Amino acid sequence: MKITIIGAGYVGLVQSVCLADFGFSVTCIEKDLNKLRELKFGRIPFYEPGLEDLFRKNLKSNRLNFTNEYSSNISQSDVIFICVGTPPKKNGESNLNFVDQVTKEISKKIKGYTVIVSKSTVPVGTSRRIEKILKRVSSTKTFDVVSNPEFLREGSALEDFTKPDKIIIGCRTTKAEKILKKIYKPLNRPYVVTSNETAEIIKYANNSFLATKITFVNEIADLCENIGAEIETVAKAMGLDGRIGSKFLHPGPGYGGSCFPKDVKSLIYQGNKNSTDLKIIKAVDRANELRIKYLFQRVKKITKNKFNNIQIGLLGISFKPNTDDVRQSPGIKLAKDLSKTKAKIKIYDPKGMENAKKELPRSIEFCSDEYEVAKNSNLLVIVTEWNQFKNLDLLKVKKIMKKPVILDLRNIYSKQITKNGFQYYSVGNN
Ligand code: UGA
Repeated sequence: MKITIIGAGYVGLVQSVCLADFGFSVTCIEKDLNKLRELKFGRIPFYEPGLEDLFRKNLKSNRLNFTNEYSSNISQSDVIFICVGTPPKKNGESNLNFVDQVTKEISKKIKGYTVIVSKSTVPVGTSRRIEKILKRVSSTKTFDVVSNPEFLREGSALEDFTKPDKIIIGCRTTKAEKILKKIYKPLNRPYVVTSNETAEIIKYANNSFLATKITFVNEIADLCENIGAEIETVAKAMGLDGRIGSKFLHPGPGYGGSCFPKDVKSLIYQGNKNSTDLKIIKAVDRANELRIKYLFQRVKKITKNKFNNIQIGLLGISFKPNTDDVRQSPGIKLAKDLSKTKAKIKIYDPKGMENAKKELPRSIEFCSDEYEVAKNSNLLVIVTEWNQFKNLDLLKVKKIMKKPVILDLRNIYSKQITKNGFQYYSVGNN
């Protein structure tokens, strides 16, 4: 079976590497020539644990190839995965220009029966839209369009790809269903076979529910803080209820990244367009935005709104650990707000600093490790829960800080730290 994957972004590259590793012959089409050159040299354009090694292994074996050429690849493909970006417009709607463009290219080049799989997160109705474009240009050719949303997380992409909780196949024929099942056979995981439209909405419902869970626990954390209770214990007890489950109940600065904020807004847009007022999702979106906005207020409260001659250090800037992605990171918003004050701002992140530099003002100093950030700081804010921040040499940190004050937005430490002489603030604890 010959597989073509269009787009070497997060989803496309992981899909390409993993399917090549399953033994398929995979060609990945990437139009960005700089990215393409790097890929051909054996370098991947973002940080993802374990991915580069697996990528190089499959590149060497010649099962994995990269090109910007559509012609021969599309005509010889049995299955084509569309993995291009669907960036949000200002009104929350997903921009489908890239999906349209690649579908037009595909429609001109396909020859025999081909399965076209939509892997990008796309609004309901996108499969129909793809089918329409394909039929318009190539009415005589045979094809099936499948919706097969992806659920992998950045930072654990390989693990998530190889051990998904479910594989969603939204399709209209058993022929297409069988082909998809053949591709995913090595995974040996449960399938949900349904219509294209249902498959499309599953992805948004999934992401929006997780965003809701996080927002809910964040709200309870705020209440805990104000009434003297401890969110960690509340979340633990809730998580022990099998109907709730313990995952995605960690309070923090608000959800970020390239998926939850965008997908929640897109679902709201789809609801509005289809006469459905999604009240819960709207509240989640608003609550999360306010939470990120008010991070600065929290810092202001600790510094008593005095920023003259003080230094604030941020530990972490990526939206979560094990990634260099800073898109919609709560830390970026906080750093931007802090940079408008008179305080000196220092940041260290194990992987996210290059991307952060592109977003943040030059007045911010990027450091080579956590201790350089702590040195002379009046306040240390833990923004991202990287493992290496979990076992700081606290004696050393206390010694080199100007004032030993920590704001822990991920609750990786506890009140115990006050015994080491720190003034400690966390999320959802009094
Ligand atoms: C998310 C979904 O988890 C994936 O299933 C999905 O495939 C992906 O979006 C996508 O649509 O492509 P991702 O954005 O990589 O994955 O990261 P998550 O681990 O879900 O974290 C998202 C945000 O929620 C982060 O800002 C994280 O810090 C925050 N979060 C997560 C919490 O604040 N608390 C939690 O308990 C969990």
